[in-house]
Amino acid sequence: MRTFLIAGNWKMHQNVAETKAYFNEFTKLVSKAPEGVSILLCPVYTSLHAAADAASSVDGLHIGAQNLHFEDKGAFTGEITAAMIKETGADHVIIGHSERRQYYNETDETVNKKTKKAIEAGLTPVVCVGELLEERKEDRHFDVVRSQVVKGLEGISKNDALKTVIAYEPVWAIGTGETASPEQAQEIHAFIRKELAGLYDEATAAEIRILYGGSMNAKNADELLSQEDVDGGLIGGASLKPDSFSEIVHFAGKIYSS
Ligand code: 13P
Repeated sequence: MRTFLIAGNWKMHQNVAETKAYFNEFTKLVSKAPEGVSILLCPVYTSLHAAADAASSVDGLHIGAQNLHFEDKGAFTGEITAAMIKETGADHVIIGHSERRQYYNETDETVNKKTKKAIEAGLTPVVCVGELLEERKEDRHFDVVRSQVVKGLEGISKNDALKTVIAYEPVWAIGTGETASPEQAQEIHAFIRKELAGLYDEATAAEIRILYGGSMNAKNADELLSQEDVDGGLIGGASLKPDSFSEIVHFAGKIYSS
């Protein structure tokens, strides 16, 4: 049975002092991850060390970066390697977030290279896919998401695919307050799982976690996480406050044990 992953993407928020204060508060609200739930927080690079130190006291609490470079070293000003991320104590990395695709020229090809590099370095990649508003309006969302999944995972073995997390984030729902309905989320998550079964096999597809992201918060998380193929959330705004994020973590725990 799949377990939940409740992940927070802090984007470009929270310096080191704020990160420490956050964990101080959060670890009071969640002293260990509920059964069947893993927790992930992804701060900015400069806060990774402090976050990993603070997270080490909580069972099931993981830290991740928001990006990496696919090369091991070199003249890539401003970039960071998988090994450097690992060194901070982080064990996950977000790859191909729509903001990186939109503003930093991230493509399915770089997503694929980065995913392979993360796995090689022992980091769990959280590979983001999701359609733009006009693509949904034109009813092209299934094709867009299929292509992102297939190209993102190209050349990745079954064993390595099992180490991967997929995050479906419809771009029109990110930071807009507009969430996919639970039915819309379930429909496309089931579609992604079917694609994974085609790429690998049913058993592998059944094990890979597929997270939903896009305006998930303490009000709508319960219904979204109750969908059969929604295995967690990749949460932006609502992960910046320990109380709303911990509420979502506890919802997942309740759903798992019910
Ligand atoms: P919001 O939860 O703020 O919509 O952000 C979602 C997201 O982009 C997480 O990666």
